[in-house]
Amino acid sequence: MTTAFAQLQFLPSQILEFEELSSTNDYLKDLASDDSVEEGTLVWALHQTNGKGQHSNRWLSEYGKNLTLSLLLKPKDLALSELFRLSKAISLAVRDSVSSFINVDVSIKWPNDILVDTQKIAGILIENSIQGDKIKHCIVGIGLNVNQNFFLSENNPTSLQKITGNIYSLRDVLNVLLENISSRYLQLQLKNYKNIDTEYFQHLFKVYTEQKFIIGNETKESFINEVLPDGSIVLTINGEKKTYSYGEARWKI
Ligand code: BTN
Repeated sequence: MTTAFAQLQFLPSQILEFEELSSTNDYLKDLASDDSVEEGTLVWALHQTNGKGQHSNRWLSEYGKNLTLSLLLKPKDLALSELFRLSKAISLAVRDSVSSFINVDVSIKWPNDILVDTQKIAGILIENSIQGDKIKHCIVGIGLNVNQNFFLSENNPTSLQKITGNIYSLRDVLNVLLENISSRYLQLQLKNYKNIDTEYFQHLFKVYTEQKFIIGNETKESFINEVLPDGSIVLTINGEKKTYSYGEARWKI
């Protein structure tokens, strides 16, 4: 079903709502192969049978309890080297949204997990289509736990309801999320990189502390120094400072 969306916020341009899809990212990826599909197209499903997470993991979400959606963005004038800034802007938008519902500190675990305390409340999977040195489009997939109380996953996730005890309207949470994405995306399009970089760093989980990272096959105590503009992380391990991309260094926790 398609509904026109006429509000002040400029995203989304249209919402495609589904009871069930395999994965909203996969559905939107197919759709977006037609270049005429508008930026801001949002695919929202109440349930995914094959929700995808990072590192080929699955994203599990109980039917109708959480937000599972994908948004089509076609950032203008964003150089490939700046692509991680989109991830930062979306992380901040999800963080802003979660923060607006709870009174607990919400942080961003590198590169883009959203945590309340040490528990994950939202995950982001951005899949890019690149042609030559240009970004054709980005599929921004977001899973935000809203009303789910019990999780099978061993990494102990949380939800808005688990934290506050309240039940939320998914549509209300979606509207808040879309407002925040609109304003963070505007910041990005206006090249207000300073604010995006500063706030991302300000909310970064466990920065300037020693944490366990898996490098190769080994777990290493690593001091987190910073995250570089391209999204790689700078760690000090055994007194040696080194830079790792997301695939090269994985959180142990
Ligand atoms: C992560 O592993 O943290 C990323 C999870 C991303 C999940 C969302 S749910 C909506 C969209 N569709 C998918 O198949 N995955 C993303």
